[in-house]
Amino acid sequence: MDWFSGFEPICQTDVPLAELTWYRLGGPARWLLTPRDEDELAAVLRRAHEHGVRWRVLGRGANLLVRDTGFDGAVIVLSHVYWEHVDFEPPLVHARAGVDLPRLVRSTLDRGLLGLEGLAGIPGTVGGATRMNAGGRHGALADHLRAVRFARSDGTLVNRPAAELAFGYRTSGLGDAVVVQITLELEPGDREPAMERFRAIWNEKYSTQPPVAARSAGCVFKNPPGHAAGRLLDEAGLKGQRHGGAEISSRHANFIIAHPGATSQDVLDLIALAKERVHRATGIELELEVEVW
Ligand code: EPU
Repeated sequence: MDWFSGFEPICQTDVPLAELTWYRLGGPARWLLTPRDEDELAAVLRRAHEHGVRWRVLGRGANLLVRDTGFDGAVIVLSHVYWEHVDFEPPLVHARAGVDLPRLVRSTLDRGLLGLEGLAGIPGTVGGATRMNAGGRHGALADHLRAVRFARSDGTLVNRPAAELAFGYRTSGLGDAVVVQITLELEPGDREPAMERFRAIWNEKYSTQPPVAARSAGCVFKNPPGHAAGRLLDEAGLKGQRHGGAEISSRHANFIIAHPGATSQDVLDLIALAKERVHRATGIELELEVEVW
């Protein structure tokens, strides 16, 4: 019996992952499952747990590099319409894990619910953004988070106040739990000044970062305490450095762009080279911000 027996209607095998990521790089997933609600998600996790099957959750693939060999396990995608539901109960907003983050930001602002405008220009799903506390210099998702409903890796469903989940700089205490739904607490207020702030942040990114159409996964490294990774990489002379089809952006040194013909290995080699150079120049050990599968 296959480990996914009974889940055939939502399970595909050997599914290319490249087209599901912003980088458009990397090999296939051995299995890809699309659970249709939280109970089905919990059942899939329980089964994977019982059979010792490795799994990952894929959101928009905006912060992800899949290796050329792909992922030899189960990739779970919360793409069913069930996962796109948002409930407005001002000042609370309940959003399921598959909701598109940029759309959520816009729809809260449209309703005069303020707080998320600092997340302007950040791609991804609510689930992915929560798990890694997506954000930038203008705030992070957890700043407005009140509670999270998630499935543990053994398939149990639980609700927790955000305060108990150890959110930090691009991290959370969610570990390998899967976000099901989040509850945000926003501030009812004046829409126009918030839209103004949203547009200003968007324009700032537009002018300092590579275009969204460029194949990248955003910032590659975390900012080490007291430093900007982009500046360290820039000062190490890495802008424009190429390896195969991968190139360190000349616009912002913490972005690695994939050109046509690039492989994941090109990006990984360039990451290693950049780390090495910064370490040699400064003694600082850069840590990855992008996820690598
Ligand atoms: N800098 C350079 N050279 C460069 C790039 C940056 O000297 O090539 C300098 C800038 O002049 C600035 C400093 O480094 O003084 C910081 O750069 P920036 O203002 O662009 O912000 P960042 O710290 O590099 C962070 C997030 C971004 C987010 C922006 C804006 C991290 C690792 N990065 O970038 O997030 O968009 O703030 O809020 O925390 C991402 O998560 O993928 C991402 C891009």
